[in-house]
Amino acid sequence: MATVIDGKAISAKVRAEIKAEVDKMTVKPGLAVVIVGEDPASKVYVRNKAKGCEEVGFYSEVHELPESTTEAELLALIERLNANEKIDGILVQLPLPKHLDEKIVINAIRADKDVDAFHPINTGKIMIGDYDFLPCTPAGVMRLLKETGVEVSGKKCVVVGRSNIVGKPQAMLLLQQNGTVTICHSRTADLKKECLEADILVVAIGKAKFITGDYVKPGAVVIDVGMDRDENGKLCGDVDFASAEPKASAITPVPGGVGPMTIAMLLTNTLKAARLFGKK
Ligand code: GUN
Repeated sequence: MATVIDGKAISAKVRAEIKAEVDKMTVKPGLAVVIVGEDPASKVYVRNKAKGCEEVGFYSEVHELPESTTEAELLALIERLNANEKIDGILVQLPLPKHLDEKIVINAIRADKDVDAFHPINTGKIMIGDYDFLPCTPAGVMRLLKETGVEVSGKKCVVVGRSNIVGKPQAMLLLQQNGTVTICHSRTADLKKECLEADILVVAIGKAKFITGDYVKPGAVVIDVGMDRDENGKLCGDVDFASAEPKASAITPVPGGVGPMTIAMLLTNTLKAARLFGKK
């Protein structure tokens, strides 16, 4: 029987630590969340981010812009937020509508307010191991490993997925903790063989229940970053929990695994930004 890693409980612990710090501050950290358009999933995420801020005592602003927003209008808002001292962190919810260029928009956010850690300055800093902010999902995974007592050093780590948001930074963070890291993707010749060598398997591919127990080495730690829907429309991950769990020594469920950690890490980054701006 695998340990089922309780992301909800670990997230609650992190948020309680943040709240205890914020309670002692005279100037509260501030987060601005920007959403463009009507994507229902994005709206839920943004609402949860604002709620997370409220719970730990942050100041927060949500800017809901219509689908028709022009690049110039969005950039003008970002400029105002860049200059606003109440705001320590800026997050523009992705994906953006097709007519807006994500790269231009992310580049417009001040690197020292980029609490998503998507700006090239911050991604570059992660590469050299000298960073202020870590991207929320990979940072959440590292915290789950730490809280579960999983030692990364010397372990064979396999990351399935090579996105800029999860796979690539996840691999760097595992490497920084002295894991031996392999990144797998859609062109990997023998995915099952690679996965079967993993002591720590992190999956972020966006394919419902794709990684079954056949891909899991006995005793491996399995981290499922997926947030998918199964054939019945039920929320599930990239890992087939039912067949993977009996093989694993520890595994994250979906929901209730990595998901709850991302907001906790966003709040961690925002607090860090506020501290770097000198808020006490
Ligand atoms: N869309 C899905 N995940 C994320 C995230 O972590 N940050 C932002 N800005 N948008 C997202």
